[in-house]
This record gives sequence, structure tokens and C-alpha cells, in this order.
Amino acid sequence: MTTIIALGLQWGDEGKGKVIDYLCEKAQMVVRACGGANAGHSIHTDGRKYVLHLIPSGIVHEGVRCLLGSGMVISLSSLEKEIAGLTEALGRNINESIGISHGAHIILPWHSELEQMRESSSKPVGSTLRGIGPAYETRASRFGITAGMLAHPDMLRKNLEILRGSIAPDSTVSVDMIFDELMNYAAWVVPMLADVSLEVFNARKNGVEILFEGAQGILLDVFHGTFPYVTSSNTVTGGIYAGIGVGPNGDEKIIGIVKAYTTRVGLGPFPTELFDATGEKIRDVGKEFGATTGRPRRCGWLDLVALRYAVRLSGVTSIALTKVDVLNDFEEIMICDSYIDGEGHEISEFPPSGIGLENCKPIYTKLKGWKSFSSGALPLPLIDYIRLIEERCDVEVSIISMGPDRRDTIEL
Ligand code: GDP
Ligand code: IMO
Ligand code: MG
Repeated sequence: MTTIIALGLQWGDEGKGKVIDYLCEKAQMVVRACGGANAGHSIHTDGRKYVLHLIPSGIVHEGVRCLLGSGMVISLSSLEKEIAGLTEALGRNINESIGISHGAHIILPWHSELEQMRESSSKPVGSTLRGIGPAYETRASRFGITAGMLAHPDMLRKNLEILRGSIAPDSTVSVDMIFDELMNYAAWVVPMLADVSLEVFNARKNGVEILFEGAQGILLDVFHGTFPYVTSSNTVTGGIYAGIGVGPNGDEKIIGIVKAYTTRVGLGPFPTELFDATGEKIRDVGKEFGATTGRPRRCGWLDLVALRYAVRLSGVTSIALTKVDVLNDFEEIMICDSYIDGEGHEISEFPPSGIGLENCKPIYTKLKGWKSFSSGALPLPLIDYIRLIEERCDVEVSIISMGPDRRDTIEL
């Protein structure tokens, strides 16, 4: 059996939820590896819309085991709300489908307070304000609270005291308040605790069809993204293995999800960003507003320089190209294949870690638009667009998505 790894190759919101839900028709297990409720993964099917923040995008399919890996940082209030909403919308109890790794970290009010303070300073990154950065920080400092500690109240209290002393000595939220709240959550969280690494390892051995779900996008990776305007986890393929606790075994199909244009939320460099009516049109037609924060997404043309970098970092074996329908009504479509850097040189490789990217200007190739398409044979200009991506990134496009619904998907 093949393990599918599906991850975003841009700055997030590439349509991972849509594509993963589509691919889940064949999967029996979906595993999230990193991030937390900074993610917003949308699924449209049977006339309903679901937006998932923590729960893997396999949950809409009955019988799919959905696991949250050790690499994640989890807000239990968000998880509780998400489970309640999905239970009602799906009309079934989903608790037994969900497994939470003992090693996932818990986001606490102190993390959120710290982030609020930092983001209102003079050096914000435009985060989702979900406490993600501070939670990864306390994990790296070895002060954090793991999901597994909920089953060990004495250990939990001791670690809460250490954590408060290190990040929130002046907070009005006391250790007792958080301890009591966590003990209330423990009643439903502890039964969901799972050895995610072992479960995935055994499932792979037994031939179960598994999908590893990436969150955010490669260009937001904390090591390789456009630092400091990145998230706090490793969103690259290697981060997915680490976040789940398994290694590669050579049977993986790695699908990179790529929007037919580019968007970004939050701050940071974005060479192909459009500030004109074309950018507005993409935002309107593509409904480019954040699934988590509702913020308008910055929009621009597809950037092959950045995409080649993401292909290199992720080792993808194919691309799923999404939101192709959003470009249906354009006479001309631009695509960027190199930049002029801050010193006036033409470059076709992404600056390492995006340093100097803010001074890079895109050089565009102009292509003819395909002007409307939904099914049947692909129009020639669209074939040209796809071929150019394949040639310049040296990877095939295997899926195209022509709308938000599960059915609006074409396998090439
Ligand atoms: P994710 O974070 O990568 O899962 O992406 P989001 O769900 O945050 O944002 C993608 C948005 O585009 C969602 O509203 C999807 O419903 C929508 N979407 C996904 N694929 C397509 C597509 O092919 N066409 C259109 N028009 N919308 C799509
Ligand atoms: P999905 O999984 C788009 C961005 C934020 C901000 C930066 C840091 O839906 O694609 P954080 O709260 O993580 O510390 O914010 O990262 N960001 C995302 N942008 N999609 C996401 O997730 C994102 N998750 C984080 O906007 O710029
Ligand atoms: Mg999203």
C-alpha cells in the first residue's frame, strides 16, 4: 500500500482540505503532523461546508481514523468546539475516530497572552493569534504541557508551575485556574490519547491506506520559509515524518498542492503580489478570505521560482493544481519564472530562506487565458499553462481542481 503525503507548496491555503478530502475516498487513516488551529482546511461536499482547524481532513468520510500527531500544538477549547460542530453536522459520534498523540503540546491562555503582547509590538509577523509560536517556543525550552500529562495530574500541576514561572509570572490567570480547566478537559481527552507513532507504524505494516496531511505551506516553514515571516513548525515533508513519529519507507506518493495563482495572509515578502484591479479580481472570484481569521488574502500570479524551491524542499512526486476555475475569466495570465534581485541580477533560484526576497522583482511570461472551462477536454491554453509548470518544476501535474466541491476534481 502507498502512503500519500499531501502538503501545501506555497504560503498556505492552497486547497489542502479540498484535495485531501477528495483523496480520502480511498484512505482509511489520515494523520495531521504539525501546526494547530492556525490552519483552516475547507471541505465542500453534498451541499455542506466544513472548516477544519485541528481535526484531519478525513473526518467527513465515515470510518476514517483521524490522528493528531506529536508535532501539533492543540488548543483544547478549539478542539472541543470543532468536535461539537462536526458531531452535529455529520450526525454521528466522531470521538472514537479521533486519536491524539501523548506528545502533542497544549496551548494555554499564557501562550495567547504572550502572543497578543508580541503581535501588538513594533515587530509583528501577522500571526493568526492562536498562541502557536509561544507554544512551540515553550516546547523547545522544555517547559510545555503535553496532552499525555492530562492523564497524570501531579506531573501536570508541577509542569504548570514551572511554565507559569517561566512565561507568565504576572498573569492574572493562575495555575489553579488552568489546572481545573485542564482536569475538566481530561475527562474526554484522555480516552482519545493514542500512540500515534505506533498506530501509524502498524497500520502501514498491515497495508492500511494512509494519508499524511500537511498544514500551512512550505514557504511558511520555520527553517526554510521566508523567515521571520513564517509559522513556528516544520511544514516540509521532513517535518511531517517528525511530527507523526515515523520514517520514510520508500512507498510514499508525495502530492504538492498548489494554487493556480499565489496568496499569502499575514506579513512578509511576496514578489508577485498584485496591488491593482487584477489582484482584487482574483480575491473576489477566488473568495480569498482566511478560513481561520477571515483576513483578506494578498493575491498575485503564480511564482515558479518559489514553486521550484518548494518542490526541492518537499520532494513531491506530483502536483495537484487547485482553483484553476478562478482564472477562467482572464484574457491573459502572467506567470513568473525568474526575478531581478536587489542588485539588478536576473535569478531563477529562490534566495535561500527568502533573504532579500523583498527586493526581488518578478519577470513575467504572458500566456493566453483559457476563458472558461469546467469539464471535457482541457482547453489548449490551460494545457500550455500546466505544461509550463511541469517543465519548469520538473514534476507532473496529476490532479486539477476546478471548484470547491469534491466532485470538481479531474485526475490527469
Ligand atoms: P487549505 O488551508 O489549503 O485547506 O485551504 P483553505 O480551505 O484555507 O482555502 C482554500 C479555499 O478555496 C477554500 O474556501 C476552498 O473551499 C476553496 N477551494 C479549494 N479548491 C478550489 C477550487 O478548485 N476552486 C475554487 N473556486 N475554490 C476552491
Ligand atoms: P493552512 O493550513 C495561511 C501564517 C499566518 C502568519 C504566519 C505565522 O490553512 O494553510 P502563526 O499563527 O502560525 O504563528 O502565523 O503564518 N499562517 C497561515 N497562512 N494558511 C495557514 O494554514 C497558516 N497558518 C499560519 O498568517 O503569516
Ligand atoms: Mg487554510
